[in-house]
Amino acid sequence: MERMICELYLKIQIMMEIWKRKRQPGCERMIIVVGSTNFDTVMRVKSLTRDGETTAAKRIQQYLGGKGANQAVGVAKLGSKCCFMTSFGSDWTGKFLSSKFSEFNISLYSQHSNDLSGQAFIEVNDAGMNRIIVYSGANALLDETFLDQYSHILERADLILLQGEVPWDTNLHILKTYGKKCPIVLDPAPAIPEMLVGIEKATFVTPNESEFSILSGKQYNSLEEILEGAKDFQKKFRITLVLKLGKNGCAFFSDTDSFIVSPINGLKVVDTTGAGDSFNAAFAVALEMGYEIRKAIKYAVFVSGISTMNEGTSSAMPTDIEVQALEKKLSGDQPKLIELQEIDKHFRTFKTFP
Ligand code: RIB
Repeated sequence: MERMICELYLKIQIMMEIWKRKRQPGCERMIIVVGSTNFDTVMRVKSLTRDGETTAAKRIQQYLGGKGANQAVGVAKLGSKCCFMTSFGSDWTGKFLSSKFSEFNISLYSQHSNDLSGQAFIEVNDAGMNRIIVYSGANALLDETFLDQYSHILERADLILLQGEVPWDTNLHILKTYGKKCPIVLDPAPAIPEMLVGIEKATFVTPNESEFSILSGKQYNSLEEILEGAKDFQKKFRITLVLKLGKNGCAFFSDTDSFIVSPINGLKVVDTTGAGDSFNAAFAVALEMGYEIRKAIKYAVFVSGISTMNEGTSSAMPTDIEVQALEKKLSGDQPKLIELQEIDKHFRTFKTFP
């Protein structure tokens, strides 16, 4: 009873502290996302197209997308203040995409270029798996000169989210300039080997399996192999690695800790396209709320699981209300955390890789 009262007292104190900080003029806490915006065309197909094949799409949908935009929308839907710095083309999609952010109360800072806006053509099969072709367009032109105009805003970030859909030099500039001032979460998606120069400046690096394969320059045939590879990679680059393992959850490796968080079981998966982005958005929100790392990863796995039950990309990002509702339903039983030294015992419970 006494413990419960203490915990409740602590929770109230934390809530009051967050509330107080949010009310201080000019000291509003915020997450800044620097990254891409795409116009996503999603085709629902029975199975993903193979070489030389023509397939019929069952449905076609169009969304605001791009890894940067999705993460910004994810952050805002989970209730944190969000600022998004991105690049649009001079086409009609640029106008359409830029009009979307006010719906989520996101402060938008956008560079405009003469190229087309970014576009993504996505196939999603009946199992919810996807294949994506991206035309970078204006995203490839997002540059440091533009971002430097907003250094006074970037200085105020509590946390910065980066992804790989804008030039690596632009990301590197942000990492070098703000890396010591606030945590930076780098999603190396898509990954390129050039990222290995400067990657250590990020506070957290969050590849999925295929991105990790590109970064480490190795192919992995089992979960055991990829976990071994991740351990070595962490030691070599001294980074904090958050490895997104899809249906196997997430593995965490830092100088001082390593563990795995298993995914939520029994979800009705309809589309996994936005899962990685919702993971990063939720991870950032959890860190901003002051969650300790293990709790933050569990929250991110939970939220990304929910996103797979929704169709689309930015549209799939869950709101804090959806998250709370599912948390209540599962009564805190999932996702589960497993210590890495215990992992051998659990291999049987994990699904085959990939
Ligand atoms: O991570 C999903 C995103 O990847 C899609 O929205 C698409 O635009 C591609 O960039």
